[in-house]
Amino acid sequence: MAIQLRGGSGYHCALRSYPTGFPLNTLLLDANDLDDRQRALSLLRQGELVAVPTETVYGLAADARQPDAVAKIFAAKNRPANHPLIVHVAGVEALSAWADPVPQTALELAAAFWPGPLTLLLHKAPHVNSVVTGGRDTIGLRVPDHPVLLNLLRELDTGLAAPSANPHKQLSPTSAAQVLAGLGGRIAAVLDGGTCRVGLESTIVDLTTDTPRILRSGPLTRQQLEAVLGQPVLQPQQHEVAVAGNMKVHYQPRTPLYVLSRDELLDRLKQRAGARLAIVWYGSMPDSFDGSVVLSARTMPTDKAAYASALYRELHELDSLQADAILLERPPQDEDWLDVNDRLSKASASL
Ligand code: TXA
Ligand code: MG
Repeated sequence: MAIQLRGGSGYHCALRSYPTGFPLNTLLLDANDLDDRQRALSLLRQGELVAVPTETVYGLAADARQPDAVAKIFAAKNRPANHPLIVHVAGVEALSAWADPVPQTALELAAAFWPGPLTLLLHKAPHVNSVVTGGRDTIGLRVPDHPVLLNLLRELDTGLAAPSANPHKQLSPTSAAQVLAGLGGRIAAVLDGGTCRVGLESTIVDLTTDTPRILRSGPLTRQQLEAVLGQPVLQPQQHEVAVAGNMKVHYQPRTPLYVLSRDELLDRLKQRAGARLAIVWYGSMPDSFDGSVVLSARTMPTDKAAYASALYRELHELDSLQADAILLERPPQDEDWLDVNDRLSKASASL
């Protein structure tokens, strides 16, 4: 059953800078409830914004064929209009409806990894409105691996433009509650489909150049893409494609975040005795550590997938403690962990 939510006390700070039309009554819809799923469908058909679950993070969806609906995404998120949106589609057969041409490499990667956390960057089909692509001639396409969203996409018979469902520059949400905390009062509804399994945003691979290249690291690694394509895939540290996820400062919690080695972290604890600190250890806590002197002490899993799936949830929770700082022990630096380290370096970049 839909729950009516007003822009309650938790949302006010987010609403203040808002233009006209806010606050809205944001509905909390239950993905297990047929009526609620129908409600989400009709809102999307009417050109409203609905936050939807994906396997990576929650997306803020609008019908990609309705430019006015897509424009609302930028207003709700406070996102600059030149930041293009990923279009989510129901299956590989939709590729030719949105991209032209569809290269062989796209078909190979789609066959191997869709539905899944992979966004393909292709030349857009002529009909695609430039509001979706931020004025570019390319389009990002992805088939999400989430039954709730896949069912919506099949019913709608269109694509859903959906960036992560967070205010611009803040942390991506991995639960409906986190979506509401950031965007409650600014969007028509959130469809609660539980916690996102993967927990980090998709890998973005650009197939518009001679050699494929990764524009944003993600759950699927360069080696996995190369194994399917049988050719090298570039993973430049820097590139000129101004994707929002490529900006140095992004994905930020409000509490200053320091990513430190274990020794640095223990040192910092001594220096900042008496401060309200939240500590996040990798694996286990050191024997010498006295958890009673800090506001919060947690450990992260050593398994990469489990770590990635927990990261944004932990950062959201720690951010709500109003600590003076979050000190997080640096995880491994292996290639497997590139996406985690990429998000951590952006989350802590202003320090
Ligand atoms: O896992 C994900 O990718 C999630 C879920 C919701 O699918 N989406 C997501 O969207 O992370 P967003 O907008 O937060 O990040 C997508 C990134 C942005 O940095 C955007 O600029 C870039 O992809 N992007 C999208 N289309 C592009 C295009 N045509 N050219 C260059 N960059 C593009
Ligand atoms: Mg985002």
